[in-house]
Amino acid sequence: MPTPWQYRFAQNAQSTQSSAIRELLKVTQNPEVISFGGGLPAPELFPVEEFKAASDRILTQSPTAALQYSTSEGYSPLREMIARQMDKYGMKLGLDNILITTGSQQSLDLVSKLLLNNADRILVENPTFLGALQVFGIFGARYVTVPIDDDGLQTDLLPEAFRSGPKFMYVIPTFQNPGGVTLSLKRRDTLIALSDQYGIPILEDDPYGQLRFEGETLPPLQTLDAARLKTTDGYRDGNVIYLGSFSKTLAPGLRLAWISAPPEVIAKLVQIKQGADLHTPIFVQMMAYETARDGFLERHIEKIREVYRDRRNVMLAAMDEFFPPEVHWTQPSGGLFLWVRLPEGMVSAELLRSALKMNVAFVPGNSFFATDEKAGDRYFRLNFSNMTPERIREGIHRLAKAIREAMKA
Ligand SMILES: Cc1ncc(COP(=O)(O)O)c(C=O)c1O
Repeated sequence: MPTPWQYRFAQNAQSTQSSAIRELLKVTQNPEVISFGGGLPAPELFPVEEFKAASDRILTQSPTAALQYSTSEGYSPLREMIARQMDKYGMKLGLDNILITTGSQQSLDLVSKLLLNNADRILVENPTFLGALQVFGIFGARYVTVPIDDDGLQTDLLPEAFRSGPKFMYVIPTFQNPGGVTLSLKRRDTLIALSDQYGIPILEDDPYGQLRFEGETLPPLQTLDAARLKTTDGYRDGNVIYLGSFSKTLAPGLRLAWISAPPEVIAKLVQIKQGADLHTPIFVQMMAYETARDGFLERHIEKIREVYRDRRNVMLAAMDEFFPPEVHWTQPSGGLFLWVRLPEGMVSAELLRSALKMNVAFVPGNSFFATDEKAGDRYFRLNFSNMTPERIREGIHRLAKAIREAMKA
């Protein structure tokens, strides 16, 4: 029997489900469990002392500004710092191009409110970030999917996919979640040209771009779009809405991120944000700015890269050593994840059950597939940022055992 509340829930709210990862994270609270599940940064890298000192300075020097209501656009010094940071990626942004948000998860929500009508289609990578699917689902989105390979989104399939008239494309070009793959420069150029030709905007989600372990930095899609426009007065008429985040470079608990887009888009998003939460906590914005300024963030990111590079290497080496040859996985050059394909006929959700008995966790592939969850049966995602190298090696050893036993069965 449905409860009275179930009749009261709005249509789009009825179909929402708790994310598989959030559910899984409950299990992994147990310290015995070696979790490759959530996308959690390494906690020992959080700049706790720097936050303490920043908080002290702010509450001594500007307590009123830090604790009073503030502007919806966000703290200007922080937006200026973001503009300087994006300049390094070849992107010239003015303050009117930048809105501070309460995490990229909120950015996804605000952009959905801005662009989506019920039953609009979104073009997404297959697989894609399940947190985005969760947001889009609340707006009644439908999907058209395009597969990824080792070079990211298969752009040759886009013209065909555009026939269903997607409202926008949602793309994670660098160190994709969950795939760990990166869109090649050639495909980036193709994507920008097609977006212009067909008039379909791009929502570029880039929480991992700064966490590159090796190889050449690739320009964000927004940078390439700006280059296409050849304008001298900043990013005004472009097709790309870019999402950046401090979750993986400072700390996810800050809930701090930003959107950069043409001023017309930002102005509308500011109004939508006012309705959502007025503004991102100003104290948090000031803390992030005070901590990150004067080169600290760059030095800190360098440290994160070193630690994650080492963990990625340990995980890949252990997989080479212990996993059966029938299992395949991606070789990420940065970010937090790699993506594993099991032999034909195996189901990762079943493997998770036996892995959990050995106190190892990962995220089965299904929930990363927008339209056909079954397509994710053979896949699962591994996170390498959160566990120490010793635990990574031990966890992969146990997981290999679970895989071999399942293969025998
Ligand atoms: C691709 C992608 N987008 C957005 C987010 C959410 O980031 P934030 O912590 O800034 O809300 C994540 C977090 O894991 C992510 O992987």
